[in-house]
Amino acid sequence: MAYKKVRKAVIPAAGLGTRVLPISKALPKEMLPIVDKPAIQFIVEEAVRSGIEEILIITNRGKGIIEDHFDHVIELEQRLEASGRRETLDELNRITNLANIFFIRQKETKGLGHAVSCAKSFVGDEPFAVLYGDDVIIGDDPACGQLCRAYEEYGKGVVGIKKVTEEQIVRYSSLKVDLIRDNIYSVSDMIEKPSPDKVLSLYSILGRCVLPPSIFDILERTPPGAGGEIQLTDAMRELTLGEGMTGVDFTGKRYDMGNKLGILEAICEVALNHKEVGQDFRAYLKELAKTL
Ligand code: UTP
Repeated sequence: MAYKKVRKAVIPAAGLGTRVLPISKALPKEMLPIVDKPAIQFIVEEAVRSGIEEILIITNRGKGIIEDHFDHVIELEQRLEASGRRETLDELNRITNLANIFFIRQKETKGLGHAVSCAKSFVGDEPFAVLYGDDVIIGDDPACGQLCRAYEEYGKGVVGIKKVTEEQIVRYSSLKVDLIRDNIYSVSDMIEKPSPDKVLSLYSILGRCVLPPSIFDILERTPPGAGGEIQLTDAMRELTLGEGMTGVDFTGKRYDMGNKLGILEAICEVALNHKEVGQDFRAYLKELAKTL
């Protein structure tokens, strides 16, 4: 039996980004450039390639430039038209027309779970994908689409999972999993930021999930957890202990744009494959490497 198709996605992008200060003081980390595109554009493109039709971006004060990025700039477009820069103009139009994008503000930064709860009326009575605004995942088969397919097959909430190191697991979430087949697992428990004695496995939720609308009732009664924030993991735990969740060890490389090293890795690897500057950057990097 095939379950409901996932058509909607939510991108929470209202965090304070304290790990990448000072740049995130005035520039949202979701707008950090990966060569010539902001991180959030990669995420919107992933959602669109996954078959998502409507996207809600959760922002807050000072994040208006995210809205501007997906809007028309008439003067700029007229200038490009007049000077015959058709290719650049087409790229700008493509960004504006990527999907039906909506925005809402999270008025207080009370955590990822609280940010997701702001999407309640947008989502209505459908399953929906969540793509964390600071996690860029690059791969041939879009990660969000891999999770949507698992939802459509098993009919349960889905988390994108990857193995992390013992040092990392205490800063992430930890999951109890059993293999179903290939890269698909059944998830029976989870914990956010576990102390070393509470680690369930080195599998952690990274950047993507698909949730049933019943998550909103759970979020309403989820008290603040780790760090005093309303944690999405705590709400997903209730879902897991009830109906269970599916885990997909997705293919694709994840870059953590909420972390300084992650930002550098993303820029470097995207630059190496960039059609305009890739070759020159590779030559530059080879020369530079000789001096290291
Ligand atoms: P993070 O916990 O990585 O973001 O949340 P943060 O709070 O900005 O990070 P630090 O620790 O201060 O550096 C994951 C995603 O959830 C969003 C963030 O924007 C990020 O994309 N988020 C987080 C919200 O939208 N609202 C929140 O209240 C918290």
